[in-house]
Amino acid sequence: MLILAPMQGLTELLFRRAFQRCYHNAFDCAISPFLSLTHGNLKDATVKVEDVLPKLNTNSMPVIPQLLGHEAESFIDLANRLNDLGYSEVNWNMGCPMRRVAAKHRGSGILPYPEEVRSILDTVVPRLKTTLSVKVRLGYYSPDEIDHIIPILNDYPLTSVTVHPRTGKQMYSGLINIDKFTQILPLINHPVIYNGDICTPYDYRRIRTLFPSVKDVMIGRGALYNPLLPMQIRTEFPEDFDSAVLPLTQQPTAKQFIVSLIGDILQMNVSNQAKIRKIKEYWCLLSKALPDSEERKRRVLHSADLETILRLIDEMTK
Ligand SMILES: Cc1cc2nc3c(=O)[nH]c(=O)nc-3n(C[C@H](O)[C@H](O)[C@H](O)COP(=O)(O)O)c2cc1C
Repeated sequence: MLILAPMQGLTELLFRRAFQRCYHNAFDCAISPFLSLTHGNLKDATVKVEDVLPKLNTNSMPVIPQLLGHEAESFIDLANRLNDLGYSEVNWNMGCPMRRVAAKHRGSGILPYPEEVRSILDTVVPRLKTTLSVKVRLGYYSPDEIDHIIPILNDYPLTSVTVHPRTGKQMYSGLINIDKFTQILPLINHPVIYNGDICTPYDYRRIRTLFPSVKDVMIGRGALYNPLLPMQIRTEFPEDFDSAVLPLTQQPTAKQFIVSLIGDILQMNVSNQAKIRKIKEYWCLLSKALPDSEERKRRVLHSADLETILRLIDEMTK
């Protein structure tokens, strides 16, 4: 399976819908950007539950909602509300590296505290109406923190464990720790999903060759740098996937995808300022798919006026 990674502000409903429209079933499913359990009042989560409302997700790829937080009661409450909406699985975010999140033992900030992980799973798992999967890093401070987390994860009936082999302190850069991933893989008694730095079919091949037991791969930034990436992977490795895919030459180009996504942003019922912010967030990553000079691409980020931005993008996506 190819799974679209959760990326707050990026792989939200708008993106998932545009991606599915252009590259039908390129991803088998997506994990949603996290819904945050803030101090048990579900305020943030309630706002963002829209992102995973089934009636809005009908034209999207299948999605598994992700929860961020360590408040067990809120977790159970939200997960079971999601189950009432039709979701049969939720994913627990144990990977977010942001300092303000981690400082409260949320995301990857919980990884140095295995007993907290056990206590949450002990409370949550028996009362969940959904199944549970988790997404982890190797640790927050040290890649060896995972050594104390794996035996705990093995004690619960998880559907999968997605591993991004970095520490929280590394954020999103620095070397992926393949040696540590190699060491822990046989110790995890659940299906393991690999995630991290898959930006080309070659990267995919490397992971599948190094780790034949890992059947499922999650892709984040690679799909924004090059929206054709999942289709390229499916084309090069048809034996890995069930579905037949259209020849690559018949797939929309990256330019067409960008135009389509921006068209959706322009339809949003928000201010022009909000549209500009959104277009620029995507442009930072998606523009990598275009051959124009960096200087020319930067002009979009330096413009403050929607008309100018659209004209510049139009010139580069013709
Ligand atoms: C802007 C941004 C937002 C992210 N938001 C989330 C999130 O909501 N939940 C999560 O589990 N991971 C989140 N991640 C991490 C990605 O899911 C993924 O683990 C990471 O980008 C590494 O995979 P990649 O190299 O394929 O991008 C985010 C990453 C970025 C760059």
